[in-house]
Amino acid sequence: MYYSEDLVEEVRLKNDIIDVISAYVKLQRKGSSHFGLCPFHNEKSPSFSVSPSKQMYYCFGCGAGGNVFTFIMEYENYSFPEALKVLADRAGVTLPEVEYSQEARQQADLRSAILELNKKAAKYYYYQLRTEAGKQAYHYLTDRGLSEETIKKFGLGFSNKYSNDLYQYMKKEGYSDELLKQSGLMNVDEKRGMYDKFWNRVMFPIMDVNHRVIGFGGRVMGDGKPKYLNSPETKVFDKSRNLYGLNIARTSRKESLLICEGYMDVIALHQAGFHHAVASLGTALTTQQASLVKRYAKEVYLVYDSDEAGRKAALRAIPILKASGLSVKVINMKPYKDPDEFIKNLGAQEFEKRIDDATGSFMYEIEVLEKSYDMNDPESKTKFHNEIAVKLLEFTEDLERANYIEAVADKYHIGFDNLRKLVNNMAMKSGGIKEYVKPKSGLNRKKDKEDGMIMSQKLLLTWLIENEKLFQFIKKYITADDFTEEIFQKVASMLFTQYDEGMVNPAKIINYFTDPEEQREVAALFNASIPPVDTQEEREKAIKETMIRVKENSIEHRSAHMDVTDITQLQQVIMSKRHLQDLRNLKISLDSL
Ligand code: CTP
Ligand code: MN
Repeated sequence: MYYSEDLVEEVRLKNDIIDVISAYVKLQRKGSSHFGLCPFHNEKSPSFSVSPSKQMYYCFGCGAGGNVFTFIMEYENYSFPEALKVLADRAGVTLPEVEYSQEARQQADLRSAILELNKKAAKYYYYQLRTEAGKQAYHYLTDRGLSEETIKKFGLGFSNKYSNDLYQYMKKEGYSDELLKQSGLMNVDEKRGMYDKFWNRVMFPIMDVNHRVIGFGGRVMGDGKPKYLNSPETKVFDKSRNLYGLNIARTSRKESLLICEGYMDVIALHQAGFHHAVASLGTALTTQQASLVKRYAKEVYLVYDSDEAGRKAALRAIPILKASGLSVKVINMKPYKDPDEFIKNLGAQEFEKRIDDATGSFMYEIEVLEKSYDMNDPESKTKFHNEIAVKLLEFTEDLERANYIEAVADKYHIGFDNLRKLVNNMAMKSGGIKEYVKPKSGLNRKKDKEDGMIMSQKLLLTWLIENEKLFQFIKKYITADDFTEEIFQKVASMLFTQYDEGMVNPAKIINYFTDPEEQREVAALFNASIPPVDTQEEREKAIKETMIRVKENSIEHRSAHMDVTDITQLQQVIMSKRHLQDLRNLKISLDSL
């Protein structure tokens, strides 16, 4: 970061978070916070809260959170310097030029220059589609069943048959060769110099979630090769982090998204009324795309082609999506190849039925597995059953696994008890029956404990922010070092300093974290939901127990990582143990604080 801390803080203070966010989200006051529909995920009832006193926002639905900078960064997809610039302008603060590093400025300028160029190119292609020269292309699209409204909605266009048309136009508009090269819209070779990458193709502008044109796909009209040409990766175009159609799908207010393979699939689905369809950009689905999806949906329907390639793509995508916490179903489009063909032949209503009948990802995986075994051959069939049993071990919850055993046994006529025994045997072979009887393996239990620890540390930080008197009390027993999670420790130490200086300012703490993931985590920290307690006494007890847990963990952690010959460390542990003892004997009374 190239601006002084003071300047960043000045800009933040001059941009009241309620004012800023109100320009994007309709907020309503409820108690000490303001609530609205979260702009970062689809929801029907407001769980997005903005706190005037903390100057922070937090969504209880999707976990998005931060201060006024984070909001602009997330909403507008801006980098920190870009967000700072916008907010400084808004508040009439002049940013000194010198503090902008040359490098950072050039990068930011290049990004916005490419975006501007892309937008111009998209408009140009769009215009060309409606000229005499574009007639054939326009008919190509309408012959494929697209309406004028659809063509408009997706901003489809045409790159005409002269291979330097766009280049000439952009030069006339005053753009430099260097920028044109960086935009990915041009090819360069020694013989011909610079010329258009796309010509004589129908053009599909690719937009990010904020409707900014980041690249293009161009399709030949007919059977030429390659069928599609796509923009190369540029400063603004990263295929692995974007999904075609998400700019529209994100506002569909559905809890699920349909993920398909291609541009035309998305467009056909939208035209048929399925406004929640998106596509990856000609590559296998990535983890970044999965987490992008997770921000807008809970459930995903895979609408991949019904051929071998589509099946493989689905099998690859399932674990990636599941790892992001999404539930996954697969839509069967047989006897048609893809959703475009399906809808053309059977219509939207039939497709809706296919959505309802979609197969859960687990059953889908088993169905695919079945194809590689011969059910008429006892040996092959047995192998298939064994494979199923191994896969069923993926479920660590007793009940869930039992339900799946039942479903699979039913479908493949194996018999519930037979399959259950087989699963038990497999469990035994792969590390002991214990794992099966008690699905919470040692590993899980350890993880539960860690989760509990994290929760306690979070809670304590939340309490520390909410109540200054509580801090005066807690600080007698707990130090910033007692927070064993690195990020919590950083936050705690800043918070303790702020308290000592007499000014608590959680939103300022977020400024110190540059990574958006960290900012999100810190925001969540300041908004951990405090367990509902009925009485004052229960609250006192909860605080005391949380403090004890944090202290115990800290002692355990410190003892485990201690250099026993170091006297200071030893003394610290002894001191901590004394504090812990005091704490245990203490009777907290919130009234007396
Ligand atoms: N694709 C690509 N390059 C190709 C072929 C395909 O980049 N030569 C990408 C495109 O993003 C395309 C997707 O893979 O949208 C799916 O390919 P395909 O099913 O062949 O295309 P459709 O979108 O179905 O297009 P169409 O209906 O026009 O054949
Ligand atoms: Mn297709």
